[in-house]
Amino acid sequence: MSHKKVAILLSGGGSNMVALLDSMTGDHPARACLVMSNDAEAGGLKKAAVRGITTAAVDHRPFKGDRATFEAELIKPLMAAEPDIVCLAGFMRVLTGDFVTQFQGRMLNIHPSLLPKYKGLHTHARALEAGDAHHGCTVHEVTAALDDGPILGQATVDVLPEDTPDLLAARVLKKEHLLYPAVLRRFAQGDRTPILLS
Ligand code: GRF
Repeated sequence: MSHKKVAILLSGGGSNMVALLDSMTGDHPARACLVMSNDAEAGGLKKAAVRGITTAAVDHRPFKGDRATFEAELIKPLMAAEPDIVCLAGFMRVLTGDFVTQFQGRMLNIHPSLLPKYKGLHTHARALEAGDAHHGCTVHEVTAALDDGPILGQATVDVLPEDTPDLLAARVLKKEHLLYPAVLRRFAQGDRTPILLS
């Protein structure tokens, strides 16, 4: 069986990336072909390398906000890996519409809120401030608009009276590690039916 090839982009520790890598074994229809970062020091790159996955980094900082030129470099190792699917997993750079268009319909992102609520940053603090009873995470298809695009899965957690943003973030992150692999497996089989976990 020929596997779908998955490239994963990250900026930080890469716990979601590890959950995705660990899921892609046995009869899973996909395998990782590349883990990439905008930061050569990102902890996730080492974790991927230890697991035998090809890694690459393109530092965004020398480009001083010139997104198009940064992306022209970013796309070189990405295209060379010939991914069928691109997973953003804590990738903290906003991508231009031109970049996203090149992976239209095959780029996923995980966001730590129940979209369409709380696009952008500080999602856990915002859910607490709003007094929400439930919070969670979303995997969605990436489109040119930030944290938008068709929803492919959501997982919820109850907000507890003693919650702080950090406590809530930790509980949501555990759900992310279940949701993203579940969505990727289904997506790689060509099934976009949303998954709901509670
Ligand atoms: C996750 O909370 C993800 O939802 C957000 O960034 C965080 C990345 O964590 N986009 P990790 O690098 O996967 O541990």
